[in-house]
Amino acid sequence: MLVLWMCGIIGFKGKGNAGKIIFEGLKRLEYRGYDSWGIALNSAGLEILRKPGKIGSLPAAFEGGSLGIGHTRWATHGGVNEKNAHPQLSNNRKIAVVHNGIIENFLELKKFLSSHGFSFASETDTEVIPNLIQFHLAEGLSFREAVRKTLLQLDGYYAIAAVLEGSGTIIGARNGSPLVAGLGRNEFFIASDIPAFMPHTRKVVFLDDREIVELDDSIKVFSVDSGLEIKKKVQRMHWSIEQVKKGNFAHFMLKEISEQPDAIEKAAMQDPARLKKIAGIIGKADNVFFVGCGTSYHACVSAEYAFSEIAGKSVKAVLASEFARHIKSLSEKSVVVAVSQSGETIDLLETVRAAKEKKAKIVSVVNVAGSSLPRMSDETIMMNSGPEICVLSTKSYTAQLAVMLLLAFSLCGRAAEGRCIIRKAAEKAAETIRKSLPAAKKLAKKLSKKQDIFLIGRGNAFPSALEGALKIKEVSYIHAEGFAGAELKHGTIALIEKGVPVIAFMTSESEKQITSNAMEVKARGAFLIGIGEKKSEIFDEFFEIGGCDEAALIPRIIPVQLLAYYLALERRLDPDKPRNLAKSVTVK
Ligand code: AGP
Repeated sequence: MLVLWMCGIIGFKGKGNAGKIIFEGLKRLEYRGYDSWGIALNSAGLEILRKPGKIGSLPAAFEGGSLGIGHTRWATHGGVNEKNAHPQLSNNRKIAVVHNGIIENFLELKKFLSSHGFSFASETDTEVIPNLIQFHLAEGLSFREAVRKTLLQLDGYYAIAAVLEGSGTIIGARNGSPLVAGLGRNEFFIASDIPAFMPHTRKVVFLDDREIVELDDSIKVFSVDSGLEIKKKVQRMHWSIEQVKKGNFAHFMLKEISEQPDAIEKAAMQDPARLKKIAGIIGKADNVFFVGCGTSYHACVSAEYAFSEIAGKSVKAVLASEFARHIKSLSEKSVVVAVSQSGETIDLLETVRAAKEKKAKIVSVVNVAGSSLPRMSDETIMMNSGPEICVLSTKSYTAQLAVMLLLAFSLCGRAAEGRCIIRKAAEKAAETIRKSLPAAKKLAKKLSKKQDIFLIGRGNAFPSALEGALKIKEVSYIHAEGFAGAELKHGTIALIEKGVPVIAFMTSESEKQITSNAMEVKARGAFLIGIGEKKSEIFDEFFEIGGCDEAALIPRIIPVQLLAYYLALERRLDPDKPRNLAKSVTVK
């Protein structure tokens, strides 16, 4: 059976406490997947720990050591059990490998290994890797060369970390899945993401595709294809340790919702000259596509409205997974704006690859520095939101909205004014959090047993309805759907009966029409919740957000984010780790 992974990996070499450091790092990577976890420690021999389920506690015997690797898994196929958890071992149990990605030709490789007497204990594709390494070590190659020769046989996307009993080194490699190395004081790390080792060092080396990294008494990088050493730049991250800790907050979700005023401000602090240049590229293009997935796609839909309403430029929002149908219309006069928090979402990376082949210009809007997307782009705008740990996108969404608005304002020569409007939105976001938090908590108690919640909005509040519904669904597991205000009565109004909650986003531009749509559902017994600048009597509950002109779409989503958070708590769910989800979707 095929097993795909979208996971977190970490490797550490230092003077001691390896098990503890890897375990703590895994907890910070758990947002990438939490079906099962495991650690391999290279102490007297190779000690292996593998557990199904979320990361539990670390047995005392695994706290020490000076070298090891760890893994937290998100599986799409194959059982969540101890034997499929990582690390996966070679037949001689001397090599352990953790892996993020998919080995497309694993059946072929299994056949090859079987014909040489190897057997397999798991359903994973990963298990071929340690066994191929064992095979090449037996040919007399060094550990690094045996790993390299193995990588040359693999088809597909991966990031791996491998240890060999008694070798004193860790070998990592990337091809399409993220991997970053960290340089501490006599301590060396590799991980899927920087927060894994952030308490220890902020000096990092971003690996590129088809590179191998060797952790010994230093960090060395080599080409998978030639085996030659590559000199890499050491960069210093400006994220703080506090950003990857919950601090006084019960969950990352609430912390990140609260960080939005700051994130919006930071997103708006872009170099005006660069913005002008990028806006110019968009302005001159024959056709412009804003592409993303999930929440990032909803920000793209907002860009459609913002560009047309603010700058009079028509742009198209497209889901990355559905972009194929537009490929034919791309040329060197096209622009693809790729929007992503992680910069690693596979559907988006594939879109960008295809668009590059057609010579379209690629502009990316990204949060994670060193991720794949900026490296594939002609121009990149960093969102500067800091690490977003909760699986749900909250602060990265409002930061994306800020960047979209800023670009639209820059395009029509109103960049400075746009920046002021977004700053005002950041203030209003702070006010909205303060004011709506207690009301959202109370409302969640009332709504926690409901089956469905509907959200409606017109104009630029339509994408807010889509995003609000996604937030409620993914964290509370209550069915929620977002509609353009007038659409409910084209079918879904059949589901409205006494007590069904409907959230209506009231905007100044569409006040009359959305009021009519709200009245239509109220007439059928809906429990009506309003979000807007002007309170109206028709609502059973109302969240007031302060006015901030064209940027009103920023604070307006906050009451729904808070409601979604408290719905999860009411339903005794973990808001940071909703079931079946992972932060970065690196499989198709
Ligand atoms: C939303 O809360 C989710 N985390 C998800 O929809 C996310 O926005 C999507 O997977 C895209 O991720 P990206 O922004 O990292 O590309």
